[in-house]
Amino acid sequence: MPRKKLIAANWKMYKTPDQAREFFRAFLPLVASHTRDEIAVCPPYVCLPAAVEAAKGSKVAIGGQNMYWEQEGAFTGEISAPMLLACGCTHVIIGHSERRQYFGETDDTVNKKLERALEAGLTPIVCVGEVIQEREAGLTEEVLRRQCNGAFRGISGEKAARLTVAYEPVWAIGTGRTATPELAAEAHQVIRHQAAKALGDELASKLRILYGGSVKPDNAKALMSQEEIDGALVGGASLDAKSFAGIVKY
Ligand code: PGA
Repeated sequence: MPRKKLIAANWKMYKTPDQAREFFRAFLPLVASHTRDEIAVCPPYVCLPAAVEAAKGSKVAIGGQNMYWEQEGAFTGEISAPMLLACGCTHVIIGHSERRQYFGETDDTVNKKLERALEAGLTPIVCVGEVIQEREAGLTEEVLRRQCNGAFRGISGEKAARLTVAYEPVWAIGTGRTATPELAAEAHQVIRHQAAKALGDELASKLRILYGGSVKPDNAKALMSQEEIDGALVGGASLDAKSFAGIVKY
C-alpha cells in the first residue's frame, strides 16, 4: 500500500488571526478538489481558533507547533495536548530544530511530548535533522540515529501508527538550500531503519517521513517524486496561499 502523502505548513511565528482567516479565504478554493494528499496547517497558538473555524468543512487539518507533556498545571507559557484537541487540532509538530536550538528542546523532551501526543490521539510530526557541521563531518547518520532512538524510546502499539517524522536538515531550513531528492531519500532510509528497530517492521513500513527545508513550488515535484519521501513540512513558502497550494498540487 503506498503511503498517502502529508503536506504540512509550519507558519512559525507569523500571522495574526485576521491574517490566518485571509490565508484560508484564498487557499481553500485552490485546494477544494485536491484529494491525492493530506493537508495540514500549523499556525501560531493564537490563530488556532480562527484557523479551525476557517477550515471547517474542508479537508485541511489544523495543528499546533509545539506542546507540553503535562495535561495542565503551573507551567506558565505552555500548552497541553488536551488543549490543542479542545481547539480542534488534530496534528502537532514536535522537536522542530528551532525549538531544539533556541528553546532547549532535547531528545528526551521530544520523547515525552511524543508519548503524550500519541496518547491524546494527536498526529505528531517529529522533526529530526543534522546541522551543517554534522553533515560536513560525516555525522548525519549518527545524528539521525540518536535523534530517532531518543524520540521513539518506549513508543509502541497501535497508537504509534499515527507517528509521522519530518527529516529537516537544519542547513536547508529557511536558507533556500534544499537537500537533493537523493540526499533526502538516503536520510529517510536511515530514519525508517531506526523506526523498524524501535517499532517493528510493519509500523516502520507505514511510517510517513516528510521532508522539510526550503520546499518551494518549483522544487516540490522533484522531492515528492521520491518513493521514500512521504510529504513535506513547509515553512516560508506556506505563508502565501498560492505558493502553498502550488506545493500541495506539485
Ligand atoms: P522552510 O522551513 O520551508 O522555510 O525552510 C521549514 C521548517 O522549518 O519546517
